[in-house]
Order: sequence, then C-alpha cells, then structure tokens
Amino acid sequence: MLDKVTKLIGEVNAFSATTKDEIESFRIKFLGKKGILNDLFAEFKNVAPKERKDFGAALNTLKNLAQEKVTHLKDLIEIKSEQKGIYGDLTRPSDPVELGSRHPISIVRNKIIDVFSRIGFTVSEGPEIEDDWHNFTALNLPEYHPARDMQDTFFIEKNPDILLRTHTSSVQVRYMENHKPPIRTISPGRVFRNEDISARAHCIFHQVEGLYIDTDVSFADLKQTLLYFTKEMFGKSKIRLRPSYFPFTEPSAEVDIYWGLETETDYKITKGTGWLEIMGCGMVDPNVLKNANIDPEVYSGYAFGMGIERIAMLLYQIPDIRMFYENDVRFLEQFKSIL
Ligand code: DAH
Repeated sequence: MLDKVTKLIGEVNAFSATTKDEIESFRIKFLGKKGILNDLFAEFKNVAPKERKDFGAALNTLKNLAQEKVTHLKDLIEIKSEQKGIYGDLTRPSDPVELGSRHPISIVRNKIIDVFSRIGFTVSEGPEIEDDWHNFTALNLPEYHPARDMQDTFFIEKNPDILLRTHTSSVQVRYMENHKPPIRTISPGRVFRNEDISARAHCIFHQVEGLYIDTDVSFADLKQTLLYFTKEMFGKSKIRLRPSYFPFTEPSAEVDIYWGLETETDYKITKGTGWLEIMGCGMVDPNVLKNANIDPEVYSGYAFGMGIERIAMLLYQIPDIRMFYENDVRFLEQFKSIL
C-alpha cells in the first residue's frame, strides 16, 4: 500500500499542464469525490494498525502536494493570460522605434554656434525677463530715446521697468559686466516684441548676438569674421555692408549677402536684387563699453545680431514664420535627416 502512495506522489510531482481542462481533470482524478485520495482514505481501515501512522502521513503528503500542484498550475496560467492582456504576444518582434527630429530653429542655432566656436567664440546666455538697464539704458538707449520705439516692448512691471527682452544685445551687457577682455562670445536666445503676427513677423522669435572685445579691434576684423560666417553658413562668399544706425554701435552697418539670381525663388526672396539682408552689426559704442566698466581708451570691439528664424527661412525655404511655432509634425518631420 505504502508503495502505491509513494508512486502516486512521484506522479503528482511530475505532473504539468498548460490548459485549464488538463488541470481540472488532474484535480478530479486526485481530489474529486470519487478520486484517488478519497479511495485511499477509505482503505485506511484495512491497513494494519502498525502501518497506519506511516500510511496516514504519506496520504497527507500526497493530498497536500496535489492541492499545491493545482493552485500553482492555475496561477501560472493566470499570469500568462494577464501578460498577454497587457503586452500582447511577447514573442512577436517589437514595433520599430520612431526617430524624432530636431526643430529647425535648434538646427540653425547649433550650426551658428558650431561656426563661431571654431574661431574661439564661447556661448553665453542671459535672462528672458530683463531690467531696463540691460535691455536699453546700458546699450546707449536712455529713457525717452526715440530709438526705443524701434522695438515694441512687453512690459511686466513699470518703475523700475521689468520687461521681456526685445533683443539678445542685453546679454552683451551682462557678459561685459562679468568678464574682462579679451571677450569672444555669442549669445543665442528667445526675444519678445509686441508686434502683430504675420507671415514675416512674430511676437516671439530667436536671435544670436555676437560680441568681440580686445585691444586694437577694427572694422576690418568684423568684416572678415562676417565673411567667414557667411561662407560657412550659406556657402556664399560675397557680402556687403550698408551704413545703418543702432544706438549701441558706431559706426553701424547692415550685412547683406549675395544670394544670387539663379532660380525663381532667388528672384522672389531677394526682390529681384540678388541681395539679402541677414544681420545688423557695428563697432561697440564707447558709451556701451563705459557702462560695463570697460575702458574705451584701451579696448575696442565689434558686435552683431541676427534673427535665427530669418536664417532658417532662407536656408530651408520656409515661407511663413508661424510654421515654426505650430508644431505640425508634417512640417517638423521634414527635418529628420538633419542633425
Ligand atoms: N539688437 C539688434 C536688433 O534686435 C540687432 C543688432 C544690431 C545687434 C547691431 C548688434 C548690433 O549687436 O551690433 O535688431
């Protein structure tokens, strides 16, 4: 009798099943009303008294093992079906990972940084919420100066004035206040102007400011740097500097690049002239140096500022500035191949 139970224990241990039906027939076979265990318990009275203790213990072991087996196998099946519910079929190949793309503004900003960092410019940043001093006064734009109207300003607080910076030239001032010459830095960032939104203008856009200060810096240095930049950025090697006015530079100039007149688009974007304006620049006004505690008798420098959107629109032939801020994936996806 004991041998029979030991054999059955081996059978229970070896049993395995993958379906609910298989488990159920196993349960009925061992634990059902007319199952093996009930039969064995019924035979208990026929067992010789001295063997009863061992037989009883063996029977209990068999019963426990059979019950544990049923619960264990049921749990396994449940876990599997749960996993299927959450993850689907785990043996299937997974979906390919979708590659994102950089925003065109980031692409162009990074390219500008790359071009200037190759000739020793560092990258600096300043706050978007500025005070009057850094955005206007220190840049030679005292209160009531008419040139303040060139840039429609979003004010946050009045007296003392706190505002959203209208240009990244504010970072020039901050940088000069905190660094001694020689200075070579470019400052990319967001700027804000209270302007009507159209295909050409937006109230939020991006600029890169450049500043170079050392002893004996001349206008010729500025011109060479700009020529290098336009060659690297656009692959164009003809520029011209048109006299202009900015309060923070003297003399000041507007930089045009010769884009060419090869295609119909060239005609359109250059208005038939072949020339495109890309930035403002000039020699830093001595007053601006003084305002930042740099001695204009010892040092001189140049500065320039350009709009990133404008350059991106030229490089990628984007017809409307609003497209940069709509985050339409059909637009953004087109920049996938560019790093
Ligand atoms: N801050 C000017 C603007 O927003 C751009 C600019 C022009 C910056 C001339 C300069 C500069 O540093 O020298 O229109």
